[in-house]
Amino acid sequence: MTQDLSWTPSERDIQAEKSRIAKEVEAIGIDTLTKLASAAFEAKDRTYSPYSHFPVGSAVLDTAGLIHTGQNIEVATYSEAGHAEEQAIKNAVSSGVIATQGRMFVRAIAATAAPCGRCRQIIAEFSDNPLIVILDTKGNIQTITSLMILLPLAFSPKDLPGQ
Ligand code: THU
Ligand code: ZN
Repeated sequence: MTQDLSWTPSERDIQAEKSRIAKEVEAIGIDTLTKLASAAFEAKDRTYSPYSHFPVGSAVLDTAGLIHTGQNIEVATYSEAGHAEEQAIKNAVSSGVIATQGRMFVRAIAATAAPCGRCRQIIAEFSDNPLIVILDTKGNIQTITSLMILLPLAFSPKDLPGQ
């Protein structure tokens, strides 16, 4: 018999995460999450996306309760595009949050589209399992999930020696 090395999240882990998400929604408050959603939706209007014509807006709620926004910024070479979630995080870093809150400053992040794989990795760098809030095309909250659900078995700074 070969050993079973397959891994999938257990039902128990998923249910525990579901109730943690509900508690975190309660703790942050639906008013704040609605404000975060509006900030992400409004940030979409500041997009520079002449190639895809697909504006994306994002907003980070940091661990001090401040909101930082970003939107996609494209480049004629296509692959150099900055994604909305990436820009929101980089804008937060530029505003100095790491000095006061440390590396894991993202408590929740909203976006007008589901974050791509690369953005999920960038979010992981600056958070400890934050809420991920996905909006519909009208700017209403469509889905609230978490990074643990969207990026299981993630590679993170702790996988590097000395981190
Ligand atoms: N986009 C984002 O801003 N975030 C994502 O994670 C998904 C994709 C942008 C990149 C590009 O400007 C446009 O959406 C179409 O892919
Ligand atoms: Zn992305």
